[in-house]
Amino acid sequence: MQGSSGSGEVLCVVGARPNFMKIAPIMRAFAAAGSGLSARLLHTGQHYDAAMKHAFFEQLNIPEPSIDLEVGSGSHAQQTAEIMKRFEPVLDASRPRAVLVVGDVNSTIACALVAVKKDIPVIHVEAGLRSGDRSMPEEINRVLTDQLSDLLFTTEASALSNLTREGIPAERVHFVGNVMIDTLLFNLQSATPAAESLAGFGVSAAPGEYGLLTLHRPSNVDDPVVLERLLRVLKTISETTPLLFPIHPRTRGRIDDAGLAPLLAESGITAVPPLGYLEMAGLMRDARVVLTDSGGIQEETTALGVPCITLRENTERPITVEEGTNTVVGVDPEAIMACYEDVLATGGKSGRAPQLWDGAAAERIVAVINAWAAEEAA
Ligand code: UD1
Repeated sequence: MQGSSGSGEVLCVVGARPNFMKIAPIMRAFAAAGSGLSARLLHTGQHYDAAMKHAFFEQLNIPEPSIDLEVGSGSHAQQTAEIMKRFEPVLDASRPRAVLVVGDVNSTIACALVAVKKDIPVIHVEAGLRSGDRSMPEEINRVLTDQLSDLLFTTEASALSNLTREGIPAERVHFVGNVMIDTLLFNLQSATPAAESLAGFGVSAAPGEYGLLTLHRPSNVDDPVVLERLLRVLKTISETTPLLFPIHPRTRGRIDDAGLAPLLAESGITAVPPLGYLEMAGLMRDARVVLTDSGGIQEETTALGVPCITLRENTERPITVEEGTNTVVGVDPEAIMACYEDVLATGGKSGRAPQLWDGAAAERIVAVINAWAAEEAA
């Protein structure tokens, strides 16, 4: 597509926590490239709490966004619409050469949709992942963003097959590896030692003897019956492996609303506020097992070689199961227990780091973007 854009700038968008670790290496790679397009950062404000935002910007050395749309929370329609309304005048004023979006959150689709209708090329990092589950808001965001994108950067081979099936021309797609793993490898040496975090939270388990738990998907936390069933089996697990549970604000709210705080309090699960990136990285690295419904954590545990039990029915990141340490078990208590017991008995699946998860994905992305921009200008 021919953009009618004027500036030599790529406007990079972030909105929610999982975007921050993806944008960090991209901003760094644009700055390091020396020539070609420059990058400017915009934050939609989808995530705004200090724990959900500031800790990441500081720890990952992400430049302060030059624009913050401050949209905050709302229903999906409200949040998406509000981002679109506030993003449009920014594009009118700045006419960037392209808009770069990452991941699959509401900010991703909202900004892509505004840009494409203004004839500004859209670049999608982490394209082509599919869970096949359209009840997941992120799946809708993924499918639509990819349809609107001019350049699509993928992390694993399944993505190209998915995109081809959906009619995306292969020449738009570039397999570059995983920017989330760029960030993990870049920061691992500075990760907060697990022993320090555990002691700080009063957890008496040693490194290698605790589990790390995260839970925030609407399908797991919005229905009190599902949430209670999950918390009960996690409580049983916590009797043999103490669990540390950094709680996302939406999950905290649902647990309180459902009257489940006492169940949590009487278990071996230690609930703590959302953690910074360096604390999470250290805790993941030294965990006996990680239990999660997050997308990114499935990838990070695979890169670290730590067993991951995914509390979902499907994954959009199949390579973590095929080559990595991930097992997708769903939410059936018996299946979760069986998988956990297998990890206890065997130490879990052994895996390997997938192709191109090598810490240099962002450099490859910026090289492709600069070559594309030069070609379009010629
Ligand atoms: C969003 C993403 C999800 C991602 C997750 C990571 C979408 C559709 N979902 O879900 O893919 O895995 O981020 O965290 O974009 N809240 C706060 N403080 C904040 C942000 C949110 O208290 O800084 C609370 C609010 O009650 C809000 C709720 O969390 O209503 C949900 O926030 P929202 O941004 O709508 O979605 P997430 O569940 O965070």
